Amino acid sequence: MIDVNTIDKYLLMHGDCMDKLKEIPDGSIDLILCDPPYNLAKYSTGNMKFDWRSEINNDVAKWDLIELSPIDFLEEFKRVLSPTGNIFIFTSYNLIGKWHEVFDSEFDTFQFMVWHKTNPVPNIRKSSFLNSCELIVCMWNKGHTWNFTKQNEMHNFIESPICMGSERLKNPKHPTQKPLAVLKQIIKIASNENDIVLDMFMGVASTGVAARELNRRFIGIEIDDVYYDACVKRMSETK
Ligand SMILES: C[S@@+](CC[C@H](N)C(=O)[O-])C[C@H]1O[C@@H](n2cnc3c(N)ncnc32)[C@H](O)[C@@H]1O
Repeated sequence: MIDVNTIDKYLLMHGDCMDKLKEIPDGSIDLILCDPPYNLAKYSTGNMKFDWRSEINNDVAKWDLIELSPIDFLEEFKRVLSPTGNIFIFTSYNLIGKWHEVFDSEFDTFQFMVWHKTNPVPNIRKSSFLNSCELIVCMWNKGHTWNFTKQNEMHNFIESPICMGSERLKNPKHPTQKPLAVLKQIIKIASNENDIVLDMFMGVASTGVAARELNRRFIGIEIDDVYYDACVKRMSETK
């Protein structure tokens, strides 16, 4: 079992989160903010190739094909979460019902947020809606941390471009790197300075960077060797 009191800034763990979560003490996490695989790759038609521009990424990743069952996370999430804690999980239309089915009855409140991407991947053929919204399910019990002062800050809607420019890692390029602006908005609402934020599907540590920039402590878990190395580097370059 790790001793969270010894975590001054962050702790990165390399491996399968189902194993690593067991090392996290009961009630020690103030905010679970994670972005698990969406299991959308099976619907994908692959990257889009063009003569006149670079390929458009269509989020095809091997790890996305591993079937995700929300019920597998229920006991560990409840065990590690502090009584004042919050849970925010990025998800997709095909999984939102499963998260609700398993988690709604286990927490006082279950809600969702929408992240509207102002610059989604275009649909050149105009054959469907743009994939411009992502869903984030969220849940908590009475007495949870909640940092709102005004009603107009409380919309369950975040608007931000997808991760791009200098924020977007080039090597390795992660297909689903989330923008710091979205993560920071959630972290500010749902945790306090010095709290511990956990992301067990860390990718390239975007949650970790957002947490540190807001003076929260961070625990991250990532299974992939290349992404884990990128997390180590990126976090070492963060204050
Ligand atoms: C949707 S991505 C997260 C991207 C992240 N939010 C970011 O901004 O970089 C999901 C990540 O979970 C990792 N992953 C998949 N299964 C895992 C597991 N069982 N344990 C730990 N990490 C896992 C994948 O390698 C992938 O990097």
